[in-house]
Amino acid sequence: MRDSVIPAGSDAHYSAGALIRRLLAEQGLVHWKKYAVAFVLMAIAAGCTALSAYLIGDVINQAYVNHNLAGIITLGFITAALFAGKGVATYGHTVLLSYIGNRIVADNQRRVFDKLLNEGLGFFADRHSSEFIARLTAGAAAATQMINLLITSVGRDLLSLIGLVTVMVVQDPLMSFFSFVVAPPAFLVLRKLIRRIYSIARSQFDGGARIMETMQETLQGIRIVKAFTLEETMRERFDRNVAAVERDANKMARVSARASPLMETLGGCAIAIAITYGGYRVIETGATPGQFFSFITAFLLAYEPAKRLARLNIQLNSGLVGVRVLFEILDSPPTEAVDDQKPALQIAAPSLEFSDVHFSYRSDEAVLHGMSFAAEAGKMTALVGPSGGGKSTVLNLILRFYDIERGKIAIGGQDISQVSRRSLRRHIAYVGQDVFLFRGTVRDNIAFGKPDATDDEIAAAAKAAYAHDFILGFPRGYDTPVGEHGLQLSGGQRQRISIARALIKNAPIILLDEATAALDSESELQVREAMEHLCQGRTTLVIAHRLHTVAHADRIHVIEDGAVVESGRHDELLRKGGRYASFYRLQLKEQELRPPLAAVASS
Ligand SMILES: Nc1ncnc2c1ncn2[C@@H]1O[C@H](COP(=O)(O)OP(=O)(O)OP(=O)(O)O)[C@@H](O)[C@H]1O
Ligand SMILES: [Mg+2]
Repeated sequence: MRDSVIPAGSDAHYSAGALIRRLLAEQGLVHWKKYAVAFVLMAIAAGCTALSAYLIGDVINQAYVNHNLAGIITLGFITAALFAGKGVATYGHTVLLSYIGNRIVADNQRRVFDKLLNEGLGFFADRHSSEFIARLTAGAAAATQMINLLITSVGRDLLSLIGLVTVMVVQDPLMSFFSFVVAPPAFLVLRKLIRRIYSIARSQFDGGARIMETMQETLQGIRIVKAFTLEETMRERFDRNVAAVERDANKMARVSARASPLMETLGGCAIAIAITYGGYRVIETGATPGQFFSFITAFLLAYEPAKRLARLNIQLNSGLVGVRVLFEILDSPPTEAVDDQKPALQIAAPSLEFSDVHFSYRSDEAVLHGMSFAAEAGKMTALVGPSGGGKSTVLNLILRFYDIERGKIAIGGQDISQVSRRSLRRHIAYVGQDVFLFRGTVRDNIAFGKPDATDDEIAAAAKAAYAHDFILGFPRGYDTPVGEHGLQLSGGQRQRISIARALIKNAPIILLDEATAALDSESELQVREAMEHLCQGRTTLVIAHRLHTVAHADRIHVIEDGAVVESGRHDELLRKGGRYASFYRLQLKEQELRPPLAAVASS
């Protein structure tokens, strides 16, 4: 078995009682008025039940003792009215509780989602996205179930029980006493079951999350799964998880049903005692049969709510797993708290400067050691270098996806850690190494760069990114859906749309990570021209693998092993004969080996 998907959040380790108190205080209390109404309705229903049990005694006496037909008919009408009343009250509280419950689910889902939006990238790198889905669904629903379970247990079952026990005691106190002697052993045994229930429920949740994880990965990586014929591997993984959850579910069924034989047997004993004693009273001491029947009716009616109450603890303990899972995520401190109170970034001259920046993703593995370079305002600066050198990391740090350990990153002379993240990101247009499109149309996706963009602006951005023509080539034009993650488009099309999305933002700083990597040589040339045109007057930081795409850059920094090893213009660096020159020669050689057509187009 793998470790639990849930980190052991320290503040979330409440006892069951504390968890319930917190749940009621934080999520139930705001709805107290509606709960009060539901409670009154449940009390009415419970009262109707108890009264009808009481009236049975009268019915029996009228029939067998007084032989009074008119009285029986009246009692019949009253009983019908009582049941109708109970029905209406039950309808009322059921609907009301569902309304409140649905609201609590919705609120919790919003809360978890908001929480996720305030987490940094590092938080997500450590976890699987399906864990959040499991928490969002199971946790939010569990909160509602628990609150409603408590309310109905107290409101419906406890009140009914009190009413019915009152009837029993009124009818025959001594007989009541005999029927209650079975209660203490019942509760003692139930308590032992509860600990087991909790651990099974936790393991069930973990297994459920893992089923979702496999499902999601298989769907997202379906191409790879099929191309590498991983169907069997995935099926085995899935089977294993499903089987584990099935086993847990069966165990849960066995353990929680273990209460039933016990309760039934004890209930049977109680009723046997009551019948024997009651019969003895009627036969030997001449008590009225009405009293006896009323008692038995109340007892039988009380039996169900009593059983439910006894099982309440079992249900609470399995449901509380979900609540705990919810609180764990809500309680963890946000890794990227909103910092809008910080001053906004001022962008008079958006120059960009790294001074002696140290950074690592994991504490034991430095990625940048003493990175220093400058990108002049309004100029194009290129970062080149071998894979894994830290180029994309530089962009991650400028966007403050991660916080640096030492050194300073400044834009226009302002330390970016001292301005609000939002104002910083608003001034930056970013095209990442992995293109991501959202579900929706081509138009929607471009407009994410500028939510109030007009159709003309969208078309202009698409033209500049050389996307306009292929978009119009689709039968539905700008209304073409891109599919999940943009999978209904080609890689190059996706990339151009993401460039258009960045262009329309019209930001003073542009960050491009391999923005032209997925394009053929001809489109690359076009996009490059569009870029040049657009980057004019803006501070542009571009990462490129193909060096000829940055030959015209105002300054090129060669990044190796987390530091800048060489800087200069293309021709300067070539003359110098250092790392850049050797990279360039290597790529030229590769290009000569390429088919002639491509070489002509890209030269
Ligand atoms: N989220 C992450 N968590 C841990 N390590 C990471 C993470 N992202 C990158 N790294 C590591 O940081 C180093 C620098 O990665 P980076 O993505 O900056 O390289 P790069 O220069 O952009 O490479 P490429 O040219 O292949 O895109 C690599 O060793 C990589 O393994
Ligand atoms: Mg990279």
